[in-house]
Amino acid sequence: MPRARATWLPLLSQISPQNTDKALAAGQRLRKWVSFEFVLALGIVLLATIVANTVPAKHAIIQNWPYTFRFSLAATWGEESVMLRAWAGIALLLLAGGALAYGRARHWDKKRRIGLPALAAVLALAVGLPPLAIDAYPETYRKTPVPFDTISIANGSTLFAENCVACHGLQGKGNGVLAKTFAKPPVDMLTEPHTAKHTAGDFFHWLTFGIPDTGMPVFADKLSEEERWDVVNFLHAMSRGYQARLMSPRVVPDQPQPSLGPPNFSYTAHDGSSGTLKDFRGQKNVLLVMFSWPASRERMEQLSALNAQLNTANTVLLAVPEDDPDSQEIAQMTAQVPFPVITQGAAEIVRSYTLFRRTLNKPDLLGEGSLPPHLEFLVDRFGYLRARWIPEADGPGWDNTGMLLQQLAQLNREKEILPPPGDHVH
Ligand code: HEC
Repeated sequence: MPRARATWLPLLSQISPQNTDKALAAGQRLRKWVSFEFVLALGIVLLATIVANTVPAKHAIIQNWPYTFRFSLAATWGEESVMLRAWAGIALLLLAGGALAYGRARHWDKKRRIGLPALAAVLALAVGLPPLAIDAYPETYRKTPVPFDTISIANGSTLFAENCVACHGLQGKGNGVLAKTFAKPPVDMLTEPHTAKHTAGDFFHWLTFGIPDTGMPVFADKLSEEERWDVVNFLHAMSRGYQARLMSPRVVPDQPQPSLGPPNFSYTAHDGSSGTLKDFRGQKNVLLVMFSWPASRERMEQLSALNAQLNTANTVLLAVPEDDPDSQEIAQMTAQVPFPVITQGAAEIVRSYTLFRRTLNKPDLLGEGSLPPHLEFLVDRFGYLRARWIPEADGPGWDNTGMLLQQLAQLNREKEILPPPGDHVH
């Protein structure tokens, strides 16, 4: 445009009887020139719109996705051939831009000036975009109506045990007894980041309609919609639980992880108190202690003595029995502790949070997995899972109360870093 302005605009302003012809011709040329640029710009905007519309944010709510594909860096990036083609596409796009500028500087005729860059741009898209595309379905961007909470996850876990383990294996690793009977065995949904690469809606689609020609059956007639979403929540919790293997008893300063939004839960405790995990958000850290009896006896005594200091450190302790909360031992013990011991909701919390039991040195991938007799989690006041102590796997940790209080001090120093974790999986 600068050139257009410098050459033709002064001419237009000089209209007088003597040079009207010249000015009119210049006006026509200007109009033509502007329309070329306009058409080109329009084309680019159009392409950008197409691409943008096929890459909605993962949390966008679209009831019926109209295309059979979508673009996803998360699901495709990392494979060498994909990256190579994408970079080649970007190089071609740069070349198109370069050709555009060069052609203008060199006063190429309009065919070349527009044609060459357009050709390079089309090539760029043809080379660069297809490898970034993956299958998509009408349900791909549908929002799950079922929140990510322990009731849904526990229910999903039961449904998974009843309907899926024969093929997918007890822990979703794709090693069920029937796995070898398929041309392509089921994927490893535990240690591979499938829930990060695909949307919740993708999972819902596969569960509803099956995957043709693979052995993955249709569940639309067997599981209600809500049950299918429960299974989706369970698969997410399982996958997040595997990500949690990197957690330790030490808070990593200023680094809440988006993938470590813990499942919400509702509870009623022995002292009559009740609420949800989310109620503490924006206010207090939560130390969630899952215990068994008598393995946790000593620790519960220690925590009883520490409770006042925890409260001072802006932290609420919620204890969750792994065993039947109505058993006599638990009832006796709860009468003596100064913090709430959850009775209603305990079983679902245990089933969901034990998915977060894996550690680097104890990944626990074999068979049906184990239930550590004692686990403690630290949820910061913004709703993120930040640290974990499993005596069986980590050895010494928060039994050193000074060390636990240090972690709380760190959390209390932090300001809000991420927006609160969502209530639903995406
Ligand atoms: C009869 C065996 C069988 C049963 C039962 C089964 N699946 Fe599958 N499933 C498969 C096979 C085989 C595949 C692999 C398809 C492929 O990707 O080629 C698969 C693929 C999947 C996928 C796609 C994973 C991905 O990221 O590509 C999901 C999700 C899934 N199954 C979930 C389930 C759930 C949940 C259940 C239980 C409600 C279940 N399946 C029951 C055999 C089964």
